[in-house]
Amino acid sequence: MVGGEPGIGKSTLLLQVSGMAAAQRGSVLYVSGEESPAQVKLRAERLGVTGDGVYFLPESDLTQVLEYLESDSFALVVVDSIQTLHVADVIGTPGSLSQVRECAWRLERWAKQSNVPVLVAGHVTKEGAIAGPGTLEHIADVVLYLEGESMSSYRVLRGEKNRFGPTNEVGIFEMESTGLTDVENPSEVFLSAYREESVGSVVVPVLEGSRPLLVEIQALTSPNSYSPPRRIASGVDFNRLLLILAVLTKRAGLKLFGQDVIVNITGGLRITETAVDLGIALAIASSFTERGVVSGMVALGEIGLSGELRGVPQMERRLSEAARLGFRSCLAPGLKSDSAALCGGMRLFQADSVVEALALGLLKGS
Ligand SMILES: Nc1ncnc2c1ncn2[C@@H]1O[C@H](COP(=O)(O)OP(=O)(O)OP(=O)(O)O)[C@@H](O)[C@H]1O
Ligand SMILES: [Mg+2]
Repeated sequence: MVGGEPGIGKSTLLLQVSGMAAAQRGSVLYVSGEESPAQVKLRAERLGVTGDGVYFLPESDLTQVLEYLESDSFALVVVDSIQTLHVADVIGTPGSLSQVRECAWRLERWAKQSNVPVLVAGHVTKEGAIAGPGTLEHIADVVLYLEGESMSSYRVLRGEKNRFGPTNEVGIFEMESTGLTDVENPSEVFLSAYREESVGSVVVPVLEGSRPLLVEIQALTSPNSYSPPRRIASGVDFNRLLLILAVLTKRAGLKLFGQDVIVNITGGLRITETAVDLGIALAIASSFTERGVVSGMVALGEIGLSGELRGVPQMERRLSEAARLGFRSCLAPGLKSDSAALCGGMRLFQADSVVEALALGLLKGS
């Protein structure tokens, strides 16, 4: 199951995969109840999918699809999308919960019986789940989400569930006119607009799956004494932002209650790791105090309620990525002095609390 918001690129991904599977594994059946043959042909031409071995079936009646599947043997079946399929003997319009669930069950049964993988596209509802929480995610063996910001051309394919392997691997792609292409050096891309010493901006080496990746966290605080202050978190967890704001207010004495606070991860990434806590705190404090962040520095650490900092796993891998991209120092808790050698000779600033970290990480005000 490949889920994603409308227009994010599900059909593009599935068509590219179809082309690759046809070249390597044998014939692929591409079932679309959504788009006409002409539309799909246009896209295939644009993506450079030749069509050799890819068979197109414009059909939304699942009974017909299953009948057609008996007529030939396929290495892969692609269904775009589950919401357009329907069966006659179940009440409800296509896309309704009962239809989606029944169609998914029948496809799953067919896949298990015939031992042919079935790739299904699913639209994500407003609540962020494919057709109601828990319906399709339970039926599918693997659930992937294609995500990204509408204004950014980068897409992240994230594993949500995998019955055959780990889910912590992510794919990072760029949407081009020729389709989704692999991003070789994601850190460079996500940092391309980063300027050193800018106020309210901090770079954090996060782990996306098993690979280290540098992301830029931006924060903006602006006074607001008329309405309740707003907090906007894009790319980071909202509750985490509230916790960090509370710690900054209470432990570091920053008077943030009369301030709107906006935090953003550039490039449309979504980071769930708590290792970004310190970066968020530093970016907010930098914007609020109008003091720049020490140049060439990355920051890492989880923040606890009493303002203490906790270490993050796999420090060496993160720091070598930072060093590779020209960063020269790191602010983090629990650093061992001998790890400097392992981290490409980076200068290490050790801080055990948010207060210490702000003193070390922010330039002296003018
Ligand atoms: N010529 C083009 N050059 C670059 N990008 C394009 C081009 N045409 C389409 N795209 C990209 O492809 C996206 C649409 O991709 P696709 O149709 O695969 O999405 P989808 O998730 O299947 O959408 P839907 O929910 O409508 O089925 C567009 O939002 C756009 O970003
Ligand atoms: Mg589509």
